[in-house]
Amino acid sequence: MIAGGVIEKVSIDKIRSFKGRERLPILTAYDYPMAKLLDELGMPMVLVGDSLGMVVLGYPDTTHVTMEDMLHHVRAVARAEPSALVVADLPYRSYDSVEAALANSRRLVEAGADAVKAEGGQAIHSQIKAIMESGIPFMGHIGMLPQHIKEEGCYQIKGKVEEEKERLIRDALLLDELGAFGMVLELVKPSVATGITDRIKGLTIGIGSGTECDGQILVSHDLVGGFPWFTPRFVKPKLNVSELIKEAIDRWRQEVRGPSAR
Ligand code: KIV
Repeated sequence: MIAGGVIEKVSIDKIRSFKGRERLPILTAYDYPMAKLLDELGMPMVLVGDSLGMVVLGYPDTTHVTMEDMLHHVRAVARAEPSALVVADLPYRSYDSVEAALANSRRLVEAGADAVKAEGGQAIHSQIKAIMESGIPFMGHIGMLPQHIKEEGCYQIKGKVEEEKERLIRDALLLDELGAFGMVLELVKPSVATGITDRIKGLTIGIGSGTECDGQILVSHDLVGGFPWFTPRFVKPKLNVSELIKEAIDRWRQEVRGPSAR
């Protein structure tokens, strides 16, 4: 965001001001070029998500991502000096205790994150409280929790049964009360996501949770066809960048091979 020629960092207040006014589009960035491109487009917020485990590092799920992986990618994004607010995921098991949650949140901030995100509500209540009390802005993540994929067995819609719906609402209200500026609602039944959006002060950021959240987030690779071996059902890619890369490489390969000059 440019104010009077000076590049201004997007603040948490600015992000909060989108609520009820304008839907917030958010994408993931794991490296310098993507952070630069998103910033040139004026995207207000980027997420260094642990989805990098799948789309960049080749793991089957996010449970393999370490703090070292996250720090490496947060630093790469931060080197782009984006005016966008940079949110970084606390990876699997990095917030099992209050002490670990605090220490690892601080490490992400030192690496260049402006805020951190962790998965869960009531189950990580004390960790969220400690992070917020330390002055680090926090973003929640409820619904389908990818870091729990091993217990879950598959990625499935949450909030279809009454008990699950009530738990989601309780977790959302708790995150809001603790001061989370927003929360990802992943694979939440759209009517439940809409109900939560209407009840909380913070922003709901949907992924596979219908169109009525305050914002939408996608893994950037899914949006541009950068990981063609798997695309979630709810994503309509806008580009097939993998095919474009293959075509360009093939054209260059033909030129190199070409008829021999001798
Ligand atoms: O890791 C990630 O990229 C995420 C988003 C998809 C919400 O958590």
